[in-house]
Amino acid sequence: MRIGMLGSGLMGGKLGTLFARAGHDVVFSYARSRKKLERLARDAGGSARAGTPREAAKDADALLLAVHWSRVDDVLRKAGDVSGKVLVSCCLPMNEDDTELVVGRTSSAAEKLARKAARARVVSAFGTVPSEVLFGVFDARGRAPRPSLVYCGDDEEAKEVAAALIRDVGFEPVDAGPLRIARYAEPFALLNAQLAYEGEGGPELAYRFERFGE
Ligand SMILES: NC(=O)c1ccc[n+]([C@@H]2O[C@H](COP(=O)([O-])OP(=O)(O)OC[C@H]3O[C@@H](n4cnc5c(N)ncnc54)[C@H](OP(=O)(O)O)[C@@H]3O)[C@@H](O)[C@H]2O)c1
Repeated sequence: MRIGMLGSGLMGGKLGTLFARAGHDVVFSYARSRKKLERLARDAGGSARAGTPREAAKDADALLLAVHWSRVDDVLRKAGDVSGKVLVSCCLPMNEDDTELVVGRTSSAAEKLARKAARARVVSAFGTVPSEVLFGVFDARGRAPRPSLVYCGDDEEAKEVAAALIRDVGFEPVDAGPLRIARYAEPFALLNAQLAYEGEGGPELAYRFERFGE
């Protein structure tokens, strides 16, 4: 697939690298320096390249949105027309200093995004996984059991695209249902991060949710 990375930081940089290693055609965009995007593309190998958000969006089969919640409007404006595009978002709705969720209970970042980019086909995925585990999971792909990763959305075809990407980076996709399920997945992602970064033995706990629902 042609994948446009909107955001090339901890999540976008790593996921884009893994998509490229899995054989996809990746455009890295939206960082503060063009040099960083070029370095990411060079390190990712294959046909990965650096571009603007508009170049990343043009002709993309899927866009991966990986910016801070406060930058979503800016990156979407720079990307231009995303109608009909599969827009996979890992964004959590955090305030500027990342201490609080700014959307919750009756909505989610994913649902708000679906209203902002009204004609895009939004899927929420990857937000529940800390970026630190991504390379390890990719390296261990093929070995059972693969860690589960929940995703949700209202467009079935877009969800199939997201599920394929989830598989390609080494996780087992778990369809959690419609986009509104992000209301529960987003706070869960923060619990996961809290356990990972602050809990006693946190990483052990946080990285071992192996089967959703069992
Ligand atoms: N990190 C995680 O483990 C994790 C896990 C789950 C979900 N998430 C979610 O994923 C999203 C991205 O998180 P992240 O940790 O990848 O963030 P990040 O490392 O800060 O990456 C954000 C990207 O946006 C770019 N950016 C920020 N301000 C910009 C500006 N003014 N102009 C141009 N580019 C700008 C950054 O550029 P630079 O590269 O130049 O800094 C970077 O490429 C967030 O919504 C977060 O909640 C993150």
